[in-house]
Amino acid sequence: MKKIEIGIIGGTRGMGKWFAGLLTDQGFTVHCSGRTSGLTIPETAGRCDVVVVSVPIGVTADIIKTVGPLMRKTALLMDLTSLKEEPVRWMLEHSASAVIGCHPLFGPQMETKDQNVILCPARPGKWKSWLRTIFLNAGARVTEADPKRHDEMMAVVQGLNHLNNVMMGLVMGRMDAGPSDIDPFTTPVFRTKMEMVKKVFCDNPALYAEIIIENPHRDQIVKQCKKTLSQLERLIQNKDARGLTKLMEKTAAVFDK
Ligand SMILES: NC(=O)c1ccc[n+]([C@@H]2O[C@H](COP(=O)([O-])OP(=O)(O)OC[C@H]3O[C@@H](n4cnc5c(N)ncnc54)[C@H](OP(=O)(O)O)[C@@H]3O)[C@@H](O)[C@H]2O)c1
Repeated sequence: MKKIEIGIIGGTRGMGKWFAGLLTDQGFTVHCSGRTSGLTIPETAGRCDVVVVSVPIGVTADIIKTVGPLMRKTALLMDLTSLKEEPVRWMLEHSASAVIGCHPLFGPQMETKDQNVILCPARPGKWKSWLRTIFLNAGARVTEADPKRHDEMMAVVQGLNHLNNVMMGLVMGRMDAGPSDIDPFTTPVFRTKMEMVKKVFCDNPALYAEIIIENPHRDQIVKQCKKTLSQLERLIQNKDARGLTKLMEKTAAVFDK
């Protein structure tokens, strides 16, 4: 099995580069490409047993539609995209090869050990246990999920979460409340929150924008946020601290499930 050659489209940086490291550490031959470096897409499909798509969400459809038809039937086409319904559907529609969607639930700078990885084995062929083993060897926790279930969960874990971070950063921007002004007044909780907000705004804002906007369940999240904000606005305008406390106490049951 170690004779397997893997091509990572989008392997020059970010998650693709991280996955290349994981695979080479386990003895596999990996070819990384980007827009201007490495094998071309036809060369990657022609040469590799496994092709991994790890490009920005907005160009994922184009790359899958280009590489998919060139794939061998016995090969594996997989992706590392943060969303799964559409990428998995595109991989199934545009290739005859095995297809597994994959989403590592952490960034490229993190240790893999004890992190969650989701697999969507849509047309796995012989490849599912091969891929599972790679992640298990690195100490990750692997869960299989339907792409729809994955994206519903991501609407909360990433969509709602990062919408909240973006909201906080934008409001602070409007209020011109930069970190240097606020610094002497900060609490530990605020500093922890700001680390996350800063990461979202400064590391790779396009990734977070796409995680929110491309999720097929985004409308539901936005609807619930608007409803909640109106409810909060009413309570705040009425100076109804008791009502807000009651609302939070009632909702707290959700977190004990
Ligand atoms: N970053 C995370 O925390 C994270 C976590 C889990 C999953 N993901 C997913 O991983 C994927 C990649 O995200 P990332 O954060 O790793 O992105 P990134 O750091 O911006 O890297 C993108 C990679 O794609 C290549 N690329 C960009 N446009 C391309 C094109 N048109 N054709 C071929 N290659 C292209 C880039 O290569 P060149 O610059 O050399 O052209 C680079 O290697 C996304 O689907 C994202 O949802 C990200």
